[in-house]
Amino acid sequence: MPSLHGQPEALPTDSRAVKRCDQLGAHPFSDTQDGLFRAYLSDAYKATCTQVAQWMHEAGMTSRMDAAGNLIGRYEGQTPGAPALLIGSHLDSVRNAGRYDGMLGVMLGIEVVAHFAAQGLRLPFALEVIGFGDEEGSRFPTSMLTSRAVAGTLDALPLDTVDANGTTLRDVLHSNGLDPTRYLEAAYKPQQVLAYMEAHIEQGPVLEAANMGVGVVTAIAAQYRFKVSMQGVAGHAGTMPMSLRKDALAAAAQAIAAIERIGASGPEDLVATVGQLFVGPGASNVVPGQATFSLDIRAGTAQVRDKAAAEICAALHTIAQQRGITLALERQNDLPPTPCDPDLTERLATSVARVTGHTARRLVSGAGHDAMVMAALTPVCMVFIRCKEGISHNPAEAVRHDDAQQALLVMLDFIRTLAASPAQEPTEFSA
Ligand code: GLV
Ligand code: MN
Ligand code: MN
Repeated sequence: MPSLHGQPEALPTDSRAVKRCDQLGAHPFSDTQDGLFRAYLSDAYKATCTQVAQWMHEAGMTSRMDAAGNLIGRYEGQTPGAPALLIGSHLDSVRNAGRYDGMLGVMLGIEVVAHFAAQGLRLPFALEVIGFGDEEGSRFPTSMLTSRAVAGTLDALPLDTVDANGTTLRDVLHSNGLDPTRYLEAAYKPQQVLAYMEAHIEQGPVLEAANMGVGVVTAIAAQYRFKVSMQGVAGHAGTMPMSLRKDALAAAAQAIAAIERIGASGPEDLVATVGQLFVGPGASNVVPGQATFSLDIRAGTAQVRDKAAAEICAALHTIAQQRGITLALERQNDLPPTPCDPDLTERLATSVARVTGHTARRLVSGAGHDAMVMAALTPVCMVFIRCKEGISHNPAEAVRHDDAQQALLVMLDFIRTLAASPAQEPTEFSA
C-alpha cells in the first residue's frame, strides 16, 4: 500500500474538475436554456445530483441524498464508520451564473477521493464530499439553509417561504420526496466529523494581482441580508401632480443612492449592495405604489457591518418620512464574521508553500461560503483558487486548469499531512 508520506503522482495538465464544471454549466444541468441557473431542488438540481453521484461512485465513494437535499459521497477510512474530513461546497448557483462558483469545490473533492482510491490508500479518517443544495439563496430567501441543517444550527424551517413561482418550500420538499419533519435530521454530531475543508474560486482580484494560483482564507466577512419594502400610493401618471405624489420607486432610488454612499464611506472591507428591485404595479403610465428591494451589507467585522446597517436604516427612515412612504425592513440573514481554524489554516498554508514553492497568500473572503456555517460544527479551512479578473456571479467567470490542479495538489498534501500528524483539536481520531 502506498505510504501516506509519499508525494502525490504528477497530475495531468488538464483539470477534470474544471472540465466537469463546464459540462454542468448548461441545460439539463441548468434550469434555463441559455446560460446557467441551478436552483435548489429544481429539475436541473436533480439532474446535477444524478450526474455528480455517478462521478462519486466512479471515484470510489458511496453516495446519498440527505434529509435536506444535500448530495453526500463517502469514502471510508481504514476503520469503517470513522469520523470524516468533510470536503464541500455548493451545487446551486445564482441566476446567470459562472460555472465554477461552488461546483469547482465539489468537483475537486471528488478528485481528491479518486486520487486516494486509485492508489488503494485508506486514511485514518473517512472522506466525505458534500454538495450543498442551498448556499446562494437564489430560489428561496434562505441562503445557507442546507449547510445550517448539516451544522445543526437550523432551529426551524421556513416552510411557508415561497419561490418566484409562489411555490412553498414545503411543497418543493414534498415533490422531491423529502419529508419536512425530518429535515433537521441532516445534522451531524460533532464526533462524526474531524474538520471541514472548502476549495472555492476567490471571486475577487487579489490572487491574480499577486500572480498566485492559490491562496489560503483566514476569515470570512460578516453578512446581513434585508428585504426592504416601500409602500407609497399608486396613481395616474398623467394627472397626479409631482408635488402630491407618494412615488415608492423614486423613494427607493433615493434610498439606493444613500446605501451606495454609506457603503462607500466606510473602510475598504465594507460593501453594501442592492441587487434586486421589484416595482409595482409596474406600468409606464402608473406612479409606482410599491417598491421592494434586497439589501446586502458585509464587512470584515460585525462592528463595521452593524454601524453601516444602523446608518442605512436611519437614512431609509428619513427618506420614507420625508416622502410620506411606509417603510418595512425585514432581516433575512445574519452571518457573523467567521475565522478559519488557525491550526488547519497554518497546515493549509504549509501545503500551499510546499506545492507552489512560495509563501501562501492569506486573504479574508468577502464572499459568503458554507464554511462559515460549518464552523459552528467543526474547525474549517478554505483554499482559494485564482479566477480571471476576479469576476464571479457572472457567466464570464473563468479559472485556469493549472490553478485547479495546483489546488488539488494542495488538498492532497494537506490531507496526507493531516493523516500523518492529526490536528490537536478535536480529538476524534481516537473515536
Ligand atoms: C455567495 O455567493 C455570497 O457571498 O453571497
Ligand atoms: Mn456565489
Ligand atoms: Mn460560492
